[in-house]
Amino acid sequence: MKLAGKVALVTGASSDKGAAMSELLASEGVCVAINYLKRKEKAEAIVDKIKQNGGRAMMWQADVTSKESVNDMVEATRKQFGTVDILVNNVHGKISRKSFEETVWDEYMENLYGTIKGSFNCCHAVFEEMKNKKWGRVINIMDNIVNDPVPKYSNYITAQSALIGFTRSLAVDLGVYGITVNLINTGFTLTEKTPHAPPHVQEAIARQTPLKRLALPIDIAKALLFYASDWSDFVTGNCLIVDGGKAMR
Ligand SMILES: NC(=O)c1ccc[n+]([C@@H]2O[C@H](COP(=O)([O-])OP(=O)(O)OC[C@H]3O[C@@H](n4cnc5c(N)ncnc54)[C@H](OP(=O)(O)O)[C@@H]3O)[C@@H](O)[C@H]2O)c1
Repeated sequence: MKLAGKVALVTGASSDKGAAMSELLASEGVCVAINYLKRKEKAEAIVDKIKQNGGRAMMWQADVTSKESVNDMVEATRKQFGTVDILVNNVHGKISRKSFEETVWDEYMENLYGTIKGSFNCCHAVFEEMKNKKWGRVINIMDNIVNDPVPKYSNYITAQSALIGFTRSLAVDLGVYGITVNLINTGFTLTEKTPHAPPHVQEAIARQTPLKRLALPIDIAKALLFYASDWSDFVTGNCLIVDGGKAMR
């Protein structure tokens, strides 16, 4: 893999998915900046694991919805590792889990803030440098709930859909600078949050999936390596669906 020596910033890296992506990038020789919001211990554990395995990592607390915090985080990453080559936007906004009639507009905005404003701030903070280097990778993580909507997720689904337009428009705007912008579209993933979903729901999703299981964080991390590396040099505005074939479109 042609990734050794690159520097990645992974947002929401204190999630299981973020941890898997960070650890796999580090195992390929990438220096990884681990962004977290509240779970310092989880971020510390990921950094420790990467270092124990001979990799390089740092951690930084930042709310991605704050432009100033994001700029500080990118600056700290540059101070530690010199640059940012790969940006992984892995934060989603707050999910309200309400019927449409119970949902208020501010809950739409809240989700858009976490998902789109967070990604916007991070892209803005790394853009100038990527432009000057004529090389950069932006990878946005989204949910295939957009392909297969379920009730009571309208604020999340709306913001996730916006991520598609955000990705494609940036791909068009930034391609001229050698920056690719792509999406990984994933399904229900086995993480620490999985116990919140009733077993019959998990079983139904696995049954409806051609590969007959739920996604694991490492499945998404493997796809990430393609978009992060030179193997995807001529791929932008693209969406790789990593969901075992559940939402074939
Ligand atoms: N989980 C799934 O089944 C699933 C399925 C399909 C797609 N996805 C997508 O995968 C990505 C990760 O979702 P997840 O469910 O795996 O994550 P998660 O377990 O809900 O964790 C959320 C992560 O985002 C961080 N975070 C939240 N708000 C933040 C903010 N304002 N600034 C900085 N960090 C913030 C959290 O940090 P702290 O924990 O430190 O507070 C945590 O690391 C999202 O793009 C989501 O749409 C998830």
